Amino acid sequence: MNENNKIITVLGTGYVGVTTSAILSNAGYTVYALDISEDRLNALRSGKSFFYEEGLNPLIKKAVDDKTLIPTSSYEEAVSKSSIIFSCVGTPDNPDGSSNLEYVFGAAKESAKFIQPGSVYVQKSTVPVGTGKEVSKIFKDLDVSYTSNPEFLREGTALFDTLFFDRIVVGGNSQQANNQILEIYKTVEQKRSDISKIAGIIGKEISGEYISTGLDSAELIKVTANAFLALKISFANSIAKLADKTDANVVEVMNAVGADPRIGRAFLNAGRGYGGGCFPKDVSGLIMSAEQNGVAMEIMEAASSVNNEMASYIVNNAKAKIGKELQGKKVAVLGLAFKSGTSDSRKSPGIKIANLLVNEGANVNAYDPEANEEASKDLNGGVTIFKSLNECVKDVDAVFITTDWPEFKEADFSKIADLMNGNLIVDCMNCIQISNVVAANLKYLGVGRK
Ligand code: UDX
Repeated sequence: MNENNKIITVLGTGYVGVTTSAILSNAGYTVYALDISEDRLNALRSGKSFFYEEGLNPLIKKAVDDKTLIPTSSYEEAVSKSSIIFSCVGTPDNPDGSSNLEYVFGAAKESAKFIQPGSVYVQKSTVPVGTGKEVSKIFKDLDVSYTSNPEFLREGTALFDTLFFDRIVVGGNSQQANNQILEIYKTVEQKRSDISKIAGIIGKEISGEYISTGLDSAELIKVTANAFLALKISFANSIAKLADKTDANVVEVMNAVGADPRIGRAFLNAGRGYGGGCFPKDVSGLIMSAEQNGVAMEIMEAASSVNNEMASYIVNNAKAKIGKELQGKKVAVLGLAFKSGTSDSRKSPGIKIANLLVNEGANVNAYDPEANEEASKDLNGGVTIFKSLNECVKDVDAVFITTDWPEFKEADFSKIADLMNGNLIVDCMNCIQISNVVAANLKYLGVGRK
């Protein structure tokens, strides 16, 4: 079959689903993007995504205009015409930390009603190891192959990561189906410079690895990768606490430690810890799935508890600097997205710090260049949201920088000093150049960084 004539359905228009749909529909495929949310579908129909991600809207607009991207809520319309179905539905966490697989099974059951023999059902949603074996039973008598194709994209660099991937993992029982999916990514690779031009992003020519595995391995690869990165962050944070008690500087330490290629410098940045829709959920999901298989995963429990304590560790250190009491103090929190480059504020450390500060009796101002709206629902009623950095820091005693947006890293600290009442800058991500703060006669407090 000519690759470019293939019709693909992408189930779910969240971060992964929209990115996948936008890229495949610009790589020569016709893509049905399916969701039950009319708001999300209407956003796509008008050429936009419901969340901020650099370069995504131009791709969506072009494909919708070219009719290669078709938003729909109908399984019958989409699945019955497609030979490949990518499932990118949400897997929220249950209160006990396990993954809620209701949408994963629901989407598969609904697809099974319309799927054509010979099709491949591809699971991109992050699921606990062993899930695929159960989901694939739904397609048992339908001559449909089931594969796992975990997603490694980061929010904020989603297009770059998907176009200039370091690896593609496909795992399933049919080698032929695995190869069919790998071929799709080879097509993306061939077309990536054209696609990145439309998106307006700059990529680098790298040769990604194509890795074919068994089903359980592919599922475990995804959570293992995220858990290991989370482990690195919590490890760096544990060392940062020790650095705080000595004259060591955790940034100097990690620069030198990370220069060893066996260790690597990435994800050793100490600070307010990890947040977002993936790491917290994947870590708790791994702990739960180990437990269900009778395996203790103490190492990840430790990583998780270190992470949970970072926000209060920082607030307590700031309290000591301010003079013990936060009651009645006015503070600014800059950064409500869980990291820079995204409007996503799920499990955001900035929100956690803002809410902790309110609990301490402080009057809290907050500002984020992209996440004000999304964050508002999770912020304690005592937090006032501002539309600009300057308004947010006016008359405050301390500024907490909780997300490493360029606007904050490159801020004019002498202007901030003029606007502030007090003089404390709490750099919760160790992302500010200390000399800029000191030159503005402000006091600097980092995490493990004197
Ligand atoms: C992550 C994985 O990186 C990606 O491969 C996977 O597909 C989804 O989960 P994402 O959640 O978008 O991506 O964000 P990431 O850039 O990994 O950061 C996660 C969190 O860790 C953020 O809150 C970030 O600020 C924090 N972080 C990251 C640190 O605190 N220190 C670091 O050194 C790196």
